[in-house]
Amino acid sequence: MEERVLKKLLQQMTFDEKVAQLVQLTPDFFSEGGEITGPMQEWQLKPETLYGIGSVLGTHTAEQVYRIQKQYLTKSRLKIPLVFMADVIHGYETIFPIPLALAATFDTQTIEEVAKWSAFEATKAGVHVTFSPMADYVKDPRWGRVLESNGEDPTLSAELTAAYVRGYQGTNELATEKNRLAACVKHFVGYGAAQGGRDYNTVDFSDLEMHQNYLPAFQAAIDAGAELVMTAFNTVRGIPASANEALLKTLLREKMNFEGVVISDWAAIAELMAHRVAANKKDAAIQAFGAGVDMDMMSDCYLTGLPAIANTIDQVKLDAAVLRVLQLKNKLGLFEDPYRGLTQAKAQAAPPHELRLATRKAAEKTAVLLKNEQILPLKKNQRVALIGPKAASQDILGAWSWIGKTADAVSLASGLKEKELQLSVLDFEEGQAINQAQIDQAKKLAATQDAIILAVGETSEESGEAASLANITLARNQEALIQEVATVNPNIILVVFSGRPLVLTPVEPMSKAIVCGWFPGSEGGTAIANLLMGEVNPQGHLPMSFPRSIGQLPLTYAQMSTGRPKNEENAEQKYISRYMDEENEPLFAFGHGLSYSHFILEETRLSHEILSDKQNLVIEATLKNTSDFTGTAVVQLYLEDLVSQVVRPMRELKKWKVLQCAANKEMPLSFKLEEKDLRYIHSDLTNRSDEGSFRLYLGFDSQNAQYIGTFTYQK
Ligand code: NOJ
Repeated sequence: MEERVLKKLLQQMTFDEKVAQLVQLTPDFFSEGGEITGPMQEWQLKPETLYGIGSVLGTHTAEQVYRIQKQYLTKSRLKIPLVFMADVIHGYETIFPIPLALAATFDTQTIEEVAKWSAFEATKAGVHVTFSPMADYVKDPRWGRVLESNGEDPTLSAELTAAYVRGYQGTNELATEKNRLAACVKHFVGYGAAQGGRDYNTVDFSDLEMHQNYLPAFQAAIDAGAELVMTAFNTVRGIPASANEALLKTLLREKMNFEGVVISDWAAIAELMAHRVAANKKDAAIQAFGAGVDMDMMSDCYLTGLPAIANTIDQVKLDAAVLRVLQLKNKLGLFEDPYRGLTQAKAQAAPPHELRLATRKAAEKTAVLLKNEQILPLKKNQRVALIGPKAASQDILGAWSWIGKTADAVSLASGLKEKELQLSVLDFEEGQAINQAQIDQAKKLAATQDAIILAVGETSEESGEAASLANITLARNQEALIQEVATVNPNIILVVFSGRPLVLTPVEPMSKAIVCGWFPGSEGGTAIANLLMGEVNPQGHLPMSFPRSIGQLPLTYAQMSTGRPKNEENAEQKYISRYMDEENEPLFAFGHGLSYSHFILEETRLSHEILSDKQNLVIEATLKNTSDFTGTAVVQLYLEDLVSQVVRPMRELKKWKVLQCAANKEMPLSFKLEEKDLRYIHSDLTNRSDEGSFRLYLGFDSQNAQYIGTFTYQK
C-alpha cells in the first residue's frame, strides 16, 4: 500500500480508533464466539474498542491467529489487520541453544542461520514480529535473563545483535518474504544493570557507562534495520525507561536515528504507578505517551488515559505514532494479505529434517569445554556411568521455549545410548535435593567405571525472566554428589546445563573435564554426546566469565584501571584493589574455551608502528594446529589504551576470527585495525579517538592473550 493511502486511512480514524491502534493485548481477549470474556470485563472494554486494537501478542498456533484475525476483520470498522507479535527467542517449536550459548560461537553466520530458522517456524504459526534480539549488556549472572543475552562484551554483543536482525528480517521486503519476521530489539535500556542482579530492580549507572557499554548493541540493531524497539522495565537516572523522554526522544529518535515503532514491555506503562512516578492510569499514559512510547503492551493505560486528554493531546504526535504502527503493518504486507500466507486449512507440517539438524549443529558449536585433563574425548567401549539429575532429563530447552516441545528434546542419556560405550545411567529426579542414599548408589556404580559423567545444573525454571538467584552455585546437593563420587573414582567429567555462568569453584578441582552445555535445545543430548565422543570437536568460547565466587559480582574481563592496580609484585599487599579472601580473576574467563585440537599462534606481526586516519594497521599471525584433530579456533585480539581521557578497561576485545584449521596444518590470519576501532566515549559523551599509544594482545581468551606489540595513533 502506498504511503499516501496509509495517510488517508489515518485521516479516517476517530480519536478512539487511533488510541486503540496503539494497544497490544493477549489472545484471551478474543474468545471463540467473540463474546466478552474475563479480561475484557475486568478492563470494561467495549467490543468496538477491542475490534480496533492494533496488535496481539503471544498466540500459539496458526489456527488461533487465523481465527482472531478473521473475527477481528469481520467486526472492526476500518478493517486494519492486527499485527501478531511473540517471543521467538531461540527457535519456536524446534528449539536452538539459548542466546547466551549461541554467543559462545562468536559467529554471526550461526546466529543469522538460527534467526532465519526461528522465523521460518514462527511465521508458519502466524507470528509477524518477534520480541528479539535482546541487546542488554550484562555482567551479573545472578540476573536470570543473562540467558537471553549475548554476554558481557559490548562489541561482540553488537555484532551478534545485528546478525539476529538480519536473520529474522532478511534483506528483501518483509511483505514478500513471508518466512521472515520483523525484529523488536529490547529492552531499551539498562535492564541488565538491575542492582544485585535482581530482576526488575532499580538501575543506576553513569551516562558514560550507558553510552560505552549499553547502547552499542541497540545501535547495531537499529542500523541493521530492526523495526521495533521495546522499552525496559527499569529506571534510568531515576525515571522509568517507559516514561523517559530523554531516552526515547533525545537519545533513541534523535541521536540513534530510530524510526520504527517503540513498544513498552509488558504492562510497563501501568507499572509507572507501582514505581510511584504516576498517580493513576491517566498520569501513566500521559507520561509514557509524552516520552515517546508508541504502543502499550498489555495495560489499559492508553485506552483509559489518553481519551481523558483528547482535547489537549499533541495530535501531530498521536498521528505520528499511529502512522508508525500502520507502516509496520504495511511493511509486513498485512493490508494486502492479513494472514501473511496462512490458510485456515493448512495443517502444521512437521519440522523439516534440516531444521533439527541445524539445532544440533548449533548445539555442537555452543558447548564450551572449560577444562580437560586428558580424559576427553571418551574412547569406544569404555565403561562409563552417566549420573545426575540432568542425566536423562529432557528439561534442556531453557526458559524461553514456551512453544518448544520438551517431549521431543533429546536427553544426554538418549544421545549417549547411541554411542559405542558400556553405558550405565543413574538419573535422579530433577528439582529434588539429592539424598545420601542416592549419593551412595552413585558411588557404588562409579567405583567400577572407567569414567563418570556427572550431568548437573539448573532446571529451566531457574534462569530466564524473574529467575534471579542470590546463589549461583550447583544447588540441591549436586556439589556433594560430585565431591563424594570423586572420592571413589577420580575420572569425573562434569557436564553442566545452565542458563547462566555458575560458580563451579568447589567442584572444579575434582573434575578432570568440565563441559558447559548451557540449555542446548531440542537436539542437545545428541550434540553433547557427539562432543564427548570426539565425533565433533568443541569450539565454544565463553561470552561471559564464570566467577570464582558470588562476591566478585558484577564481573567482567574488561576490568577498569584503578589507582591501586593489583600486579604480580603487590598481590599480597594491603591498600591494593583486591579481595583479601578471593582472587580478582574469574574461574573461567571471557573468551575461554578448549578444543581437542592444540592451537598456537606464531609469527605475529604488526604492519606499521603508526596507525593514522590514512593508514590502517594490519595484524598478521599464523595459526597452527599441532594436533591430530581438525578443529575450530576463536582467535581474539584485545586492545589496551595506554592513556585516555576517561578511565578505561585494561583490555577490550576488538576483533576476532572463527577459523577452522585442519589437523597438523597451519593457516595465515590477519586483522585490520582502523581509527574507528580506537574510539571510546569521552566525558562529554562523544565517541572519538585520541592520539597516543596502544598495546595489542592476541590469543584464545581474555586472560591469556599474549602481548604482540605496541603502536601509536597519529591523526
Ligand atoms: C516481558 C519481557 O521482559 C519481554 O522481554 C517480553 O518480550 C515480554 N514480556 C512479552 O512476553
